[in-house]
Amino acid sequence: MMRFYLIGAGVIARSHAEAIRKLPDQEKIQVKVADPNSKALNEFLQHYPDALGFSDAKEMLAENANEDDIVVIGTPPFTHYPLSRMSLESGRHVLCEKPLVMNGQEAQNLLEIAKQRGKLLGCCSDRFIGLPKTEEVKRLLESQVLGDIYKVTFVYRGQRSRPGVEYQPESQWFLDRSKSGGGIVMDWGPYDIAILNDVLKPSSIDITSAWVSKPETEADPSDVVYDVEGHVGAMMKYHLDGKTVWVQYERASCTHGKPYHHVEIEGTRGALEWSPYFESDKVVLSFDKNGEVVTEEKELPNQGEIGFMDHPVHYFYQSVRGEESPALVNEQTLFNFSCLQGLYDCAETGIVQKLATAEKAATN
Ligand SMILES: NC(=O)c1ccc[n+]([C@@H]2O[C@H](COP(=O)([O-])OP(=O)(O)OC[C@H]3O[C@@H](n4cnc5c(N)ncnc54)[C@H](O)[C@@H]3O)[C@@H](O)[C@H]2O)c1
Repeated sequence: MMRFYLIGAGVIARSHAEAIRKLPDQEKIQVKVADPNSKALNEFLQHYPDALGFSDAKEMLAENANEDDIVVIGTPPFTHYPLSRMSLESGRHVLCEKPLVMNGQEAQNLLEIAKQRGKLLGCCSDRFIGLPKTEEVKRLLESQVLGDIYKVTFVYRGQRSRPGVEYQPESQWFLDRSKSGGGIVMDWGPYDIAILNDVLKPSSIDITSAWVSKPETEADPSDVVYDVEGHVGAMMKYHLDGKTVWVQYERASCTHGKPYHHVEIEGTRGALEWSPYFESDKVVLSFDKNGEVVTEEKELPNQGEIGFMDHPVHYFYQSVRGEESPALVNEQTLFNFSCLQGLYDCAETGIVQKLATAEKAATN
């Protein structure tokens, strides 16, 4: 029997339960769920009557662990560390929602516990990895069609898409840094960094400059703590195999400026543009022929019934079973989280943040 233990029965827990429903061998899968909020728990159990409900996660995890038990943590970020720790210490693999934790020290501690226990620590920031369009981008990069790549633009600017205000206004924990860990850096940064690192595969990254801001609107809530940023920007130097690529990064869930997105990789012989998220499934390749710009477009929609919201559970399930998988686990999860922490640290101190992957650190 493969057992899934969901901690938190809110919005994202339902999407994980849907993903579990699409796994093979349903008769061999059991789902348990814990949430102290009885309204959330009851609503969840109405949708998933086969699941067994608990008001307390510790009580749910009290039974003896099986080798391939998986705990999926879908609670607000300030609970991720204590709940992941408790779940790893119960002898189970842990797949935690993004952002993994609140700070670098917590991430380091969790990895150590996972290693000691021989368990996997995964993060749902791999949600948009493995989509056909982004796999095509990776294939084109490997083919060298762009020549030497030197610049990546990764810009997503929304004018009014703040979680806790315009999106999911009932979950006001998003606005309080002590509960969410931060604003747009912690909300969309995990996906952006996961994609950048999956596509570019850096051995190390220097965050050379960064800023954060909190644009104000007349709809800003004044009756709750609201101290998170809505706009971030950074210049990052990605070190690949003997090459340096500059990454211009920007993300906004609130700006008075123009809303747009632009994701592009430029090289000495060509450029690639695509949308890693929802806007389009096109990959656009531009190159030169006889001094003229030539453009080729490929449409690569996701096929089949497994969508991006299913990815974290499906990828992690494959990893736990020892199968090939794009899941972000252990050292890679830690490295990606260190990039988020690095953005804040650079913005706050003005000091360049030098981040090395575990492999790179081992060779130094
Ligand atoms: N909502 C989304 O669209 C979305 C998408 C991707 C990722 N996420 C991530 O999922 C996580 C949860 O977000 P959400 O939108 O589902 O929040 P939510 O507010 O809808 O639900 C969170 C639930 O966690 C429960 N909870 C809190 N402490 C708990 C504890 N100690 N034990 C058990 N349950 C506990 C709450 O009672 C609540 O029901 C966050 O990290 C968020 O970034 C959310």
